[in-house]
Amino acid sequence: MTEEERIRELRELLHRHNYNYYVLNSPTIGDHEFDLLMHELQHLEELHPELSDPNSPTQRVGSDLANDFQTIPHSRPMLSLANTYNRQEVSEFYQRVADGLHGEPFQVCCELKFDGLSISLHYEEGQLVRALTRGDGVQGDDVTQNVRTIRTIPLSLPQSMDYPPEFEIRGEVLMPWTSFDRLNAQREAEGEQLFANPRNAASGTLKSKNSATVAQRGLDAYLYYLLGENIPGDSHYENLQAARRWGFQVSEHMKLASTLQEIYEYIDYWDKNRSSLPIATDGIVLKVNSLAQQRSLGMTAKSPRWAIAYKFQAEQAQTTLRQIVYQVGRTGAVTPVANMDPVQLAGTTVRRATLHNADVVQALGLRVGDQVLVEKGGEIIPKIVGRAETSEAAEDEAPTAFITRCPVCQTPLVRYEGEAAHYCPNENGCPPLILGRIEHFISRKAMNINSLGPETVDEYFRQGLIRDAADLYELSEEQLLRPTGGDQKGVRKILQSIQESKQVPFERVLYAIGIRFVGEIAAKTLARSYGSMEAIASASLESMLEINGIGTVIAQSVIDYFAEERNRRFVERLRSHGLQMALSQEQLQAQSDRLAGRSIVISGVFHHHSRDEYKTLIEQHGGKNVGSISRATSFVLAGDNMGPAKLEKAQKLGIEIMNEDDFLRMIAGEETEKND
Ligand code: IVH
Repeated sequence: MTEEERIRELRELLHRHNYNYYVLNSPTIGDHEFDLLMHELQHLEELHPELSDPNSPTQRVGSDLANDFQTIPHSRPMLSLANTYNRQEVSEFYQRVADGLHGEPFQVCCELKFDGLSISLHYEEGQLVRALTRGDGVQGDDVTQNVRTIRTIPLSLPQSMDYPPEFEIRGEVLMPWTSFDRLNAQREAEGEQLFANPRNAASGTLKSKNSATVAQRGLDAYLYYLLGENIPGDSHYENLQAARRWGFQVSEHMKLASTLQEIYEYIDYWDKNRSSLPIATDGIVLKVNSLAQQRSLGMTAKSPRWAIAYKFQAEQAQTTLRQIVYQVGRTGAVTPVANMDPVQLAGTTVRRATLHNADVVQALGLRVGDQVLVEKGGEIIPKIVGRAETSEAAEDEAPTAFITRCPVCQTPLVRYEGEAAHYCPNENGCPPLILGRIEHFISRKAMNINSLGPETVDEYFRQGLIRDAADLYELSEEQLLRPTGGDQKGVRKILQSIQESKQVPFERVLYAIGIRFVGEIAAKTLARSYGSMEAIASASLESMLEINGIGTVIAQSVIDYFAEERNRRFVERLRSHGLQMALSQEQLQAQSDRLAGRSIVISGVFHHHSRDEYKTLIEQHGGKNVGSISRATSFVLAGDNMGPAKLEKAQKLGIEIMNEDDFLRMIAGEETEKND
């Protein structure tokens, strides 16, 4: 067998094992054996870059190249479904269908309504060629690169099956509860904001700019709608069974109903039992099964007449409100929280519920002692949705008013225009805010002091060892050995990574000090424009406004920051500890605007620099690195083994392909042969 044949064989084999493992849940080989086959394929693919294929099983790990999603029209609009909320409305739907079919018998396919985000997958000759989000229904974002990392989505279908040469299959991308819990636990440990529910987590993940992140997050997908010219069956149910044979994950919980009664039974069953499913559902979908009948019923402008969604009622329970307490988050946002008598709700005991903000508290008009209704919808945190009755004792009292001072430091709260939350503005004096600022300072994209976690920072703060981030640079081994109970190795690691952070480039120091509204990009822009902290601290509003990407909000915030004596002192202390307060000589020399206004795609394998380094070079010379080729692309920076799809597209659009030597000459200001 030639190496080429072996590559093809391994790809088929690995696709099949992948399907057995992730879709059927019944692997036929062990993990180790699987890894060996995968390694063999990786090795052979490295030897044969000319045979590279974006749908190879080796591509499931994703890439850390930035994705810039392109918007692409759907070949058939992605409609949504009309919603119903009770039996009456379901029965009306059933009747409308019966009338529309003039008494002809019909069946209804009952399915779970998955609570994720819809996706449309396009296959040509059994190969996944494109994955689009719903977008506005007419056009969606091209998320193919990210979708390729979802293990339950087949990249390449087995040959010789009855799928048509071209078809589209739609479904839902989801984050299973186990992945969701793991992700949130991880985010909590890193002090990042939690996702409220699996749907938000799935959607945030699928829109991630980095497909390697997507690969790690454990997304899943269920497919529920097959479309195309020559699809095999006459009914929706048959088509989905066929899709399952081809390798798609289709729910096992679909059921055909021939009467309204059977539909009700399906709804009642899943209303009770859905909490046992590994994924979130928010209702039931009912679809007329026969495709001929679907066609004869047709569509309205927004949704098909042959299908409808029934939404589950969120589970509710009643209990007594005991107290309203207020939590101050790391951003200073104040959240009211209700403490209640424990009550069982959707399989867990609930004692606390969020009241969101002052408007919600006011609208509910709660008094301590009230009987309240608690609900758990798609969100993991239960909420109070209303008052059942007010206790006799509280009858004459006024409803609880929102607090006016910070519960931690007593500073009067402020409410910024257009925001629902109240904030404690005492950034430099209120403990949760101080901790928030230190956590931001040490975070990965700022100073990246990764041996320190939020808990250790909390601990040091409680011990009085640190009051701001500059204090970190004054910590000694003796001081730290006390609170951590003598783990010398751990302490040394912490001190070492604090020392190492002194090498972090200036633009990240500027981001780390936490000027309001100065995010990573603004910090980069300001650093490149002014070159040093001093120059930024003394820059005028007018001069900042001349910079592309800096508007009044950011510029004013920078001015306000340096107007405060305390902030200037803080920055001076950082300077005295040796942090980078200016662009390095190298960075300064490396800059130009030779690529200003150019959009550049990077593809292939390089010799002189890594991809990331090329990305930085592009930015340093004023260009923009984009993920995919379009008419707007200025040129492709191509290494060896450029992806065949990219190559073809670039050629089709007549976009210049530049090799790395020419590129390096170009940014160095030397003319390339082409330009002569
Ligand atoms: S069928 C034309 N089936 O619910 C029919 N949709 O409110 C298209 N959804 O946008 C949709 N589970 O994102 C269908 N079993 C299921 C579904 C489902 C979840 C979502 C889908 C759609 C929305 C409609």
